[in-house]
Amino acid sequence: MTRESWTTRLGFILAAVGSAVGLGNLWRFPWMTAENGGSAFLVVYLGIILLVGVPGLLAEFVIGRRSKRNPAGALYRLSNGSGSWGIVGLLGVFTALVLLSFYSVVGGWILRYVGASVTGAYFGNPGYFDAISFGAEAAAFHVAFLGLTAFIVVGGVRSGIEKATTVMTPLIVVMLAALAVWAISQSGADAGLAFYLDFDADYLQANPISVLQAAAGQALFTLSLGVGTMITYASYLGEDNSLAFDGSVIALLNTGVGVLAGLVVFPLLFALQGGLSETAAGGGPGALFVSVASAFQQVPFGQLLAVGFFGVVLLAALSSSISMLEIPVAYLVDEHDVSRRSATLGLAGLILVTGTVCALNPGLFTTVSGPVVDTLLTAGLAGFLVFAGWVLGGDALAEYGTGSGRIARALGVPWLWSIRTVLPVFLLVTLGLSLGLV
Ligand code: PHE
Repeated sequence: MTRESWTTRLGFILAAVGSAVGLGNLWRFPWMTAENGGSAFLVVYLGIILLVGVPGLLAEFVIGRRSKRNPAGALYRLSNGSGSWGIVGLLGVFTALVLLSFYSVVGGWILRYVGASVTGAYFGNPGYFDAISFGAEAAAFHVAFLGLTAFIVVGGVRSGIEKATTVMTPLIVVMLAALAVWAISQSGADAGLAFYLDFDADYLQANPISVLQAAAGQALFTLSLGVGTMITYASYLGEDNSLAFDGSVIALLNTGVGVLAGLVVFPLLFALQGGLSETAAGGGPGALFVSVASAFQQVPFGQLLAVGFFGVVLLAALSSSISMLEIPVAYLVDEHDVSRRSATLGLAGLILVTGTVCALNPGLFTTVSGPVVDTLLTAGLAGFLVFAGWVLGGDALAEYGTGSGRIARALGVPWLWSIRTVLPVFLLVTLGLSLGLV
């Protein structure tokens, strides 16, 4: 059977942006920013996106397009059958399963909030989130979200993923921009904008390490790096266009959406809630589900706006979750001759169980969605960089150069040396710091 590929270059770009734009931008980014000093965090984060994220994205693209395989098959084959590199790739497949297990639980919350916005169930009820976030009902909504994800993935690369993200990704951007315009125009929004956009050098000076760690983790998560998503998506490229160009567009759009999400969330919190409440600043998940949700109850047409808002979040979450499920599906299809249908159903069955465990166990959920994921992504990306830089080496440079323009080609050698040296060291130091080893 011939392997599938994207119909168009735009289809690939929209799918990759769809993967990148997700709960990372809309749910994780605002509270990460809130917890780490606002604008100080934003600046460090943007720097890491540019200097680590984009080169990392290109490394994954190069591995994927050159091998035309899932991460495990890619590293195994391109290293001429090295079992150890195969295991590094397999780690990505495993990480995808771990990620989706908790991501699908959050996806379930969002699904529930779309419905609850229609009926107004959480309006005037600040305890709503705590009441629904864990337990049997949370598990049921996780299963529903997972079902939607599997439904798209089973359709295949072209008629499933590409078709869905070609509609969803532009819709996310347009709706979010409209919400940002509305949020900024609320009276009292200035204080939120000031918190978000004024550079606070003192905070950064006082907490350089924790800001750096949080920003690095967030940068990898939001660009879907370190799992092999971008390897897998690039493996479906048919033609050889400029990877550097496509990668820059993807990173730019993703960052734009992240910043836009901040422009929705912070003005809303300050204009309608009078600032960062305890939940927004401290308890991660709360920022979106408690503070933002209750801000809607104070405005005219609040229910309608809330449906729009959580609708955007749902689309963003889905276009990311499909990219997580696609990794193990591609692995089974490529390496074990399983049909896409059986692979998708079997894996969905597995995640149904692991996700349910997360939905029933808040402690486990918090550990998995925070430190475990950060560690796996950082280690995974370090592995991919060393692989592209040293094992592929000159071949990586050749693959990078294929289809790229003059400026991109001039940046090829600096890119190769950055992924060989500085960037893996940076990632390993971050990893060591977060594990308390350095
Ligand atoms: N980038 C996605 C988000 O921001 C999450 C993701 C991580 C998706 C890793 C795929 C792989 O929500």
